[in-house]
Amino acid sequence: MPTKEEFIEKLNTALEWEYAAAVQYVQHAAVITGPEYDAIGEELVVHANEELTHAVQVSTIISDLGGIPSVEVEERKISEDSKQMLEQDLAGEEHAIEMYKELIGIAEKLGEYGSRRVLEDILMQEEEHRRDLMGSLGM
Ligand SMILES: [Fe+2]
Ligand SMILES: [Fe+2]
Repeated sequence: MPTKEEFIEKLNTALEWEYAAAVQYVQHAAVITGPEYDAIGEELVVHANEELTHAVQVSTIISDLGGIPSVEVEERKISEDSKQMLEQDLAGEEHAIEMYKELIGIAEKLGEYGSRRVLEDILMQEEEHRRDLMGSLGM
């Protein structure tokens, strides 16, 4: 049985990855080039804003649980190659999806149903992000 402290710790890790995702998307959106990447370039700006909203949502959950939200930022990946940027973004989304699935399971076990609901909404958006990136990569 996970404890509330473990839940807060894992939420803080998720928060640090959200900050990293927002920063990475801002950078990628600005530097991605090539006519085939015009549409996804605009979509990356949307993703950047949504990742920041996730950071706000996760921070609120942490604070409501009595924890202190982190201001640390996880690893950001950059590239000079547009396709590789999207692959880096896709890897980030795969990681986020696994993280939120685990957090939803913990919220369920702890009876934190309100938090679970918010985490499920975030998970849905991460799955949308993955779909956008896979579509652009022709997967
Ligand atoms: Fe996110
Ligand atoms: Fe995402």
